[in-house]
Amino acid sequence: KDSLGALGSRIGLRIGNAVNDDKLTTDATYTAILAGQFTTVTAENAMKWEVVEPSRGVNDFAAADRLVTFAAAHRQLVRGHTLLWHNQIPGWLTSGVTDGSISRSELRTILKRHVTTEVTHFKGKIWQWDVANEFFTDSTPSTINPNDFWVANLGEGIIADVFRWARAADPRALLFYNDYNIAGEDGTNAKADAVHAWAKGLKRQGVPIDGIGDQGHLDTQYPFPTTMTANLRRYEAAGFKVAITEADVRTFVDNATDQNPTDALALMAQPYEFSQMLKACLAVRACISFTVWGVNDRDSWIPGFFTDPLQGYATLHDVHLQPKPAFTTLQQDL
Ligand code: XIL
Repeated sequence: KDSLGALGSRIGLRIGNAVNDDKLTTDATYTAILAGQFTTVTAENAMKWEVVEPSRGVNDFAAADRLVTFAAAHRQLVRGHTLLWHNQIPGWLTSGVTDGSISRSELRTILKRHVTTEVTHFKGKIWQWDVANEFFTDSTPSTINPNDFWVANLGEGIIADVFRWARAADPRALLFYNDYNIAGEDGTNAKADAVHAWAKGLKRQGVPIDGIGDQGHLDTQYPFPTTMTANLRRYEAAGFKVAITEADVRTFVDNATDQNPTDALALMAQPYEFSQMLKACLAVRACISFTVWGVNDRDSWIPGFFTDPLQGYATLHDVHLQPKPAFTTLQQDL
């Protein structure tokens, strides 16, 4: 009864994790942690375009369906991730655009079909959709990235169109814009300012955008962003729900076997930053979910992505799937 999920439920906050659906049939410990501790799940990859439309016009929702079924069996709500992003789009699509065999108007039609097909497939089963992901630059000032694949080919307005298509296909799902460093994590607040102004503008024009997801990928080499609560409150004041969607706290690794730092201060930094991030969400009424990105350090994306120098140790359970100090800290905070 003192699982993270149960503790969150008492205060109306869903606690989640990102799921690799293969593990649900092959790893009982992984599955027990997921079922026992969490009240919302996100597909780590299974709902991304390259997975759901491996060849043109041929959809495969099998992996995502397995996760949705698992979630229903365990009374978990599902975050859909993600409809419009520059990464993990099918090879047939990018090569068609590059070699000119897919024209811009055809690209728009293909995108509309993708969004409508996927949102319709999961209609009634998705709590929050990450409709659009990672469109803003990390520069100061931050803007919508003109070189983004979608913006370069179809213009900025395509983002609003995708929100409209998603709303039409499933009017009850909460539609989110999702990005990293949009609650002050970059130390400048530039990206937070830009996303706030843009989202508020879209809302004013009647674009159906309900929420802002802050990914929450933190790094112990930087201080905790003290403007996080203020940034979440600013989104709330503009009428948005907010969510922490991909929380992890990476640390330089000097023990590659265990994805583990050995330095005592590094070990303390991780629970501290997780705790501060949860508290930022707890301090904001509009913050409806706190999702961790990865069930354990063995399966986390961090060591595969941040390799030079190697980083890891980013989740709540270690490589042996044992709970870490960060886990107990969140339990106490809840
Ligand atoms: C990552 C997954 O965790 C990896 O398994 C995959 O290889 C690449 O994508 N921001 C996002 C997520 O929005 O979709 C990314 O997930 C991590 C960064």
